[in-house]
Amino acid sequence: MARKPDGKHEVETTGHSWDGIEEYNNPLPRWWLWTFYATIAWGIVYTILYPAWPLVDRATGGVLGWSQRAEVAAELEAVEASQADLRAELVSTDLTAISENEALQRYAVQAGAALFRTNCSQCHGSGAAGAVGYPNLLDDDWLWGGRMEDIAYTIRHGIRNEDDPDARYSQMPAFGDLLSREEIATLVDHVQSLPDGADPLAGPGGTLFSENCVACHGENAQGDRTLGAPNLTDAIWLYASDDQSLTTLISQGPFGVMPAWGERLGEHGVRALAAYVHQLGGGEPEPEAEE
Ligand code: HEC
Ligand code: HEC
Repeated sequence: MARKPDGKHEVETTGHSWDGIEEYNNPLPRWWLWTFYATIAWGIVYTILYPAWPLVDRATGGVLGWSQRAEVAAELEAVEASQADLRAELVSTDLTAISENEALQRYAVQAGAALFRTNCSQCHGSGAAGAVGYPNLLDDDWLWGGRMEDIAYTIRHGIRNEDDPDARYSQMPAFGDLLSREEIATLVDHVQSLPDGADPLAGPGGTLFSENCVACHGENAQGDRTLGAPNLTDAIWLYASDDQSLTTLISQGPFGVMPAWGERLGEHGVRALAAYVHQLGGGEPEPEAEE
């Protein structure tokens, strides 16, 4: 026993004493003790009800049979069930009506974005901005058309591939066999002047152009979407516009190939991708009175 500093009370000590400083043996506070017993009781109940003690390759199961894996599986199932409706709806809705249904459009664009990352970005870039020979899908400059149906067709069948008999197809001739070097050089200058507003049919370049090029690129040089022939009057180049590149391109003829995706990704994938590409910025609306 020891006397407290106030000199009045006696306190039990542990018997330890350091340089005259003694350790009191106070009882633990009640509330603390009861909380402590409660956690022990709770721990025992928990280990009986839930998975707890580690065994060699798993843990004790617990009498409730609860498992995190089962919970995740149930959650996934619920998500899939809720998406099954949207999947079915996407495949059955008229292509042009998808964007009118907000929930469906949101679902399609999300699914399309995911498919784009895995299947398309290696050629068109992760942001779909394209590269030399691979068109930018963000602008409204389209080779083959920018309406939902056009885009879906391009994705489903691809372009100039040998796997799909319905692939979009056209072939610009290799003019190296048909024209002289000087004529090609004249055409290169001429083509370079078109985005600046030069008359496509004027001058010696214009004559060569009307004899060799208008069948596909048009008398106004604005291209032809049924042939995938680019508009030559805008400053947007699928390939490059320097002398060397244009000379090679006109001499050898470009031949851009895109795989067909219809079989690989199915109708659902094609439609999701079309919705995604269409809303990237350059998608074109349906003409008002088509019938
Ligand atoms: C192997 C490379 C490659 C892959 C992969 C690829 N594309 Fe293409 N894509 C091309 C090329 C090349 C062209 C342009 C062909 C041409 O010159 O007409 C093109 C053109 C397009 C066009 C037409 C653009 C226009 O202006 O009319 C669309 C739309 C398109 N791709 C979408 C996709 C989508 C969606 C995917 C993924 C499912 C995809 N592409 C995957 C190479 C690819
Ligand atoms: C049979 C149709 C056809 C004819 C004829 C034709 N072209 Fe093309 N041209 C195309 C097609 C299709 C493409 C795109 C090919 C591709 O994407 O692989 C193209 C692409 C080009 C490009 C690339 C444009 C860009 O944005 O990079 C140039 C330049 C061009 N043509 C110039 C000419 C000139 C000059 C002539 C005449 C000497 C000519 N073409 C004749 C079909 C034609």
